[in-house]
Amino acid sequence: TNSIASDPYRPNFHFTPKEKWMNDPNGLVYQNGKYHLFFQHYPDSTVWGPMHWGHAVSEDLLNWKEKPIALYPDSLGYIFSGSAVIDEKNTAGFGKNAMVAIFTYHSPEIEKTGSDKFQTQGIAYSLDEGETWKKYEGNPVIENPGIRDFRDPKVFWNKNLEKWQMLLAAKDHIEIFESPDLKNWEKLSDFRFNDQPELGVWECPDLFQLAVENSDEKKWVMIISHGGESSPNGGSGTRYFVGEFDGEKFTTEQKESQWLDYGTDNYAGVSFNNLPDDRRIVIGWMSNWNYATTTPTKAWRSAMTLPRELELVKNNNGYNLKTTPVQELASISENIKMQKNTTEKGLEIKSEELSNSIISFEIENPDGFKVVLLNDSGNSFKMGYENETFYTNRKNSGIVDFNEKFTEKEPQEIPIADMEKMKVKIIIDKSSVEIFLNDGEYAMTNVVYPESPWNTLKIEHTNNTQIKDLKTQKVNLTLANT
Ligand code: FRU
Repeated sequence: TNSIASDPYRPNFHFTPKEKWMNDPNGLVYQNGKYHLFFQHYPDSTVWGPMHWGHAVSEDLLNWKEKPIALYPDSLGYIFSGSAVIDEKNTAGFGKNAMVAIFTYHSPEIEKTGSDKFQTQGIAYSLDEGETWKKYEGNPVIENPGIRDFRDPKVFWNKNLEKWQMLLAAKDHIEIFESPDLKNWEKLSDFRFNDQPELGVWECPDLFQLAVENSDEKKWVMIISHGGESSPNGGSGTRYFVGEFDGEKFTTEQKESQWLDYGTDNYAGVSFNNLPDDRRIVIGWMSNWNYATTTPTKAWRSAMTLPRELELVKNNNGYNLKTTPVQELASISENIKMQKNTTEKGLEIKSEELSNSIISFEIENPDGFKVVLLNDSGNSFKMGYENETFYTNRKNSGIVDFNEKFTEKEPQEIPIADMEKMKVKIIIDKSSVEIFLNDGEYAMTNVVYPESPWNTLKIEHTNNTQIKDLKTQKVNLTLANT
């Protein structure tokens, strides 16, 4: 409709539902050439409410087509976050290659009684690639043991053990389960990490093995999201642990939290199951519980981050996850010439395409530089490197007063010392800026609501350095009109 086409914030190449509320990505799974993205969805309003699983399908992780709602709440409760698997061996007896969703039932009825046991785990299956679903009549498959926050099952097939395994977020720790058939689950272990309670409840876990780049070593990576207040830049954030998993217990020698993203808007990310290659691809919810329900969009609320590939590297600080946008992005981006003016301190790019672009460059020995996005309304989104810190600042980026938490912690910062050079990639959509530094060593994701489209980008630096390999690209995709 018209209102969608004229919506200034509806992203061009980030998934968002046609209308109404969305939060976490759910049930990311690949089957028969298609990527499935289910998501926490409330189809009656643009704020959170009784949760459903919305559904979208893509053949390239970028062109998404929204499908009918997959899972509706029922007498056992709302349908909270979870995962999906393809049951190739028909272990559950629903049918060969059934797509099985494993999710949390959240029962407001039980919650009202004052009992803590209002979150249980249920399953449902689809025999037609996620088009239609049947809930399993034996639900719930995991009862609540008396833990208030007991949710977000991530199930995967453990090839070595020939069993299903599940991670479940249980308030302040992770519980690991296994099952031969997705219906009968046995608890194996708990994983705890000695840290700050102000991180908030543990949500949306994931566990997978990754090869360490340039070595024969393999490690297991656990991902976990926290809705509390102490992620690096405020509010909801996702961290990870690198360690070992012996099929029963996850252990790590890591002493401190490591974060997947240093921006404010990448939450509840989990990875795809059943991919045809050995990539590990994650999609996150591009928002933050601090202000998610109040962002200034109309018909819809919230978008997903670009799908990102995870790789594991080992360096002096131990093991680190690198995150880069999936290579498919290249197939929808095109090098274009943008008007460039050299200025005293750097350069200025002017283009109507900036709100739909990828700008990348390299700076050697960066003792300092500054990048600013500007528009005709006097808004600016700033980023740069100063005093061994990379920062972004959205204080004057447009509509910011919809929630005081939106600019509570600006600038947002990442300490990065001893840079010989810094590679910067800035991916700009109509209401987001995703920054990747040094080929994914650091990621910083922010939503922004400029009052008119960005049309100028300035790069300023000190005399001691220069900008190299500047690349200006336009992204050729307009999900905004769908
Ligand atoms: C994370 C989360 C999950 C829960 C879902 C409810 O954002 O709180 O833990 O399952 O959202 O919508």
